[in-house]
Amino acid sequence: MKNNLKSVFIPIIRGEVLKKYYCGDVDDNLLGKIIDLYGWVQIKREHGGVVFIDLRDRSGIVQLVFNEDFNKLSFEEASRIKMEYVVKASGEVRKRENPNPNIPTGGYEVWVTDIEVLNVSKTPPIGVIKQSNISEENRLRYRYIDLRRDGMRNNIIQRHRIVNNIRNYLNSLGFIDIETPFLTKSTPEGARDFLVPSRLSTGRFYALPQSPQIFKQLLMVAGFEKYYQIVRCFRDEDLRADRQPEFTQIDIESSFISEENIYSLVDGMFKNILISCYDRDLKTPVRKLDFEKALELYGTDRPDLRFDLKIINLKSFSEFKPREFIREGLSTDKHLYGIVSPMPEELSRKILDKYSAMSKKEGVDVFTWLKCVNNTLSGPMIKLFESPIGEKTESFTDEKNFILLSAYGSRETVLPFLGKVRIELGDIYKLIDKNSREFCWIVNFPLFDWSEEEKKIVSVHHPFTAPAEEDLGRIESEPFKVKSRSYDFVLNGVELGGGSIRIHSKDMQGRIFTALGLKPEEIVKKFGFLLDALEYGAPPHGGIAFGLDRIVMLLQNEDSIRDVIPFPKTSSGICPLTGAPDVISEKQLSELGIKMKE
Ligand code: AMO
Repeated sequence: MKNNLKSVFIPIIRGEVLKKYYCGDVDDNLLGKIIDLYGWVQIKREHGGVVFIDLRDRSGIVQLVFNEDFNKLSFEEASRIKMEYVVKASGEVRKRENPNPNIPTGGYEVWVTDIEVLNVSKTPPIGVIKQSNISEENRLRYRYIDLRRDGMRNNIIQRHRIVNNIRNYLNSLGFIDIETPFLTKSTPEGARDFLVPSRLSTGRFYALPQSPQIFKQLLMVAGFEKYYQIVRCFRDEDLRADRQPEFTQIDIESSFISEENIYSLVDGMFKNILISCYDRDLKTPVRKLDFEKALELYGTDRPDLRFDLKIINLKSFSEFKPREFIREGLSTDKHLYGIVSPMPEELSRKILDKYSAMSKKEGVDVFTWLKCVNNTLSGPMIKLFESPIGEKTESFTDEKNFILLSAYGSRETVLPFLGKVRIELGDIYKLIDKNSREFCWIVNFPLFDWSEEEKKIVSVHHPFTAPAEEDLGRIESEPFKVKSRSYDFVLNGVELGGGSIRIHSKDMQGRIFTALGLKPEEIVKKFGFLLDALEYGAPPHGGIAFGLDRIVMLLQNEDSIRDVIPFPKTSSGICPLTGAPDVISEKQLSELGIKMKE
């Protein structure tokens, strides 16, 4: 995509103009004019009495011509210029005899009359043009060079445009940008905190915010009504392609707002981004999918809707006389689900074995399959039933040739497993249109979940989320049946954002903390300040937060958020450029009152 950066005048202190044109500005309007360009030497080619240089700045590249007959001095000067030197070139804009259709300025070139080397460069350790085979370690170690590459530069500039667009949108609707503290107390968003030891209060620690959640609620109590912030958040969790220890949230909160208001606010925000930054429209309202339905059909609460393949409930298979252990299971708490893939020949034994191993890891009781090719049925699933199961394939598929991948076990294991298989099938059969963008809202989440790991009841969103009105009576008696007033915003299988209508009464907040197993003294110690605030005229309020890095990653068609963050950490949380995290001196440790363990 062309950068479309217009020429800007950057006045320096004496009022002179430091830089007038960018390389990407060269077009018909400048034909015949003498212009000054500043930039980096991307490539140099020598042909007898002519030297060509591709000059690069943040807007792109343009070809410089050093012709011995045209200007002998600059021609000679060009011979000592090397890759990535920083130069100022003055010259005349001309039409190119052999235009290069691959670059926006490919129809023009600048015949150089004067060239000045502003700085030299060592040969870069990683290529600016060729990007294959560079390790991530090296890309991050020399990030300032990595960022010179077209793709990276575009991502960072596009990120700026998206942020700008969001700010304009929210400002125009009366939202106020307000900063909240970084040195603060723990905010429960489900990850570990990054902690900062206090020197002045030895033995005490600040926590870096996992999100500004509590502060934005306090801003509602304070009466600001509409808040936003584009803000760094910190979470010490295992890293993945879409997770960084520090990342940026678009954090929004409003008083006197309903779920429907949030949906249209956010739909409008994304419509605006797509129109302004991508020249694409977004059909609104964005579709809504019930949490339970998403799980049942796609095996996840962040479904990739770019392809249709759905999970099917195979409860009708009980009529084929399943073997005893399955029959018993099906009559209690076990389920049989499957997914029909229409191209059986492409699923090799190796892939099926892989799914089988995956199913065991996920805790699925039985993974099995049934193949149908030219009316002939095969596969281990046949043996699990006493009656012939092939007779009524039309009950679950219209396909004549297919493979039914099926899983039996608890709903909590079977559906997520088949959800993963679904994504793999989407890749194998190339069902995913990489250019399509399928947004959806997931709604009607449960309020609580059971954490096997922690062996306790936990919030699905966070503890400040309001329960659904109709479920208020069962918070204590049937907590897992209580629905919440929360919502997630999903794009192409990635959770972009989530939020909720909040609790604004002290009593209700206390009930939820208690239901989560917090003791009264713990509640006071951790959240007393919030409960106090709720007693001083807290308005009804709600909000949402988005991961900016994820938004840019998906809109730019990148696979990792590291490619849209200028200085990210590696997957092990390290910055190879600066060497952070680093050891600190004995003096610093002792000032903080900290002694390292051997
Ligand atoms: P939640 O925890 O869902 O909600 O976070 C909101 C969004 O932030 C992004 N995100 C991340 N991005 C990159 N790296 C990470 N480690 C990371 N963790 C989260 C995701 C996610 O959807 N306070 C609530 C919001 C609210 O209720 O208003 C919150 O933080 O895109």
